[in-house]
Amino acid sequence: MATGVVNAGGRPLETPFGTVYTTNITPDVDTGIGAWSYPAFERAMREGIHRDGRHLYPAFPYTHFARTNDADLQALIEATAEMEMADIDATFGRMS
Ligand code: HEM
Repeated sequence: MATGVVNAGGRPLETPFGTVYTTNITPDVDTGIGAWSYPAFERAMREGIHRDGRHLYPAFPYTHFARTNDADLQALIEATAEMEMADIDATFGRMS
């Protein structure tokens, strides 16, 4: 369920195992990543682990971000904070 708001998630990625949906990475506190600390964001980007400890599907190519330098990751979280907010449930981890 794509919404039209950039980075609000819901975009399908077809994989051999099923369809994975992108999540809402806008700064909405309830449904996006607005409440995520930098360490939580860094762990997701480098290790593919959600703030609550769950593993993210590698359809999110975190292995490609693992060696991003700290300044660039800081800039990325700052960029997400400036995005248009979308209050949309991110359908976390849903496969169909
Ligand atoms: C600068 C680029 C990117 C940033 C900052 C970013 C950030 C994030 C973050 C923080 C999450 C976890 C959010 C959550 O679980 O609530 C996430 C999930 C996800 N991202 Fe990205 N991402 C980026 C690029 C990409 C790319 C290039 C793809 C795929 C082509 C992608 C696909 C996904 C998917 C499918 C998930 C959900 C994984 C799951 O639910 O298990 N992302 N992203």
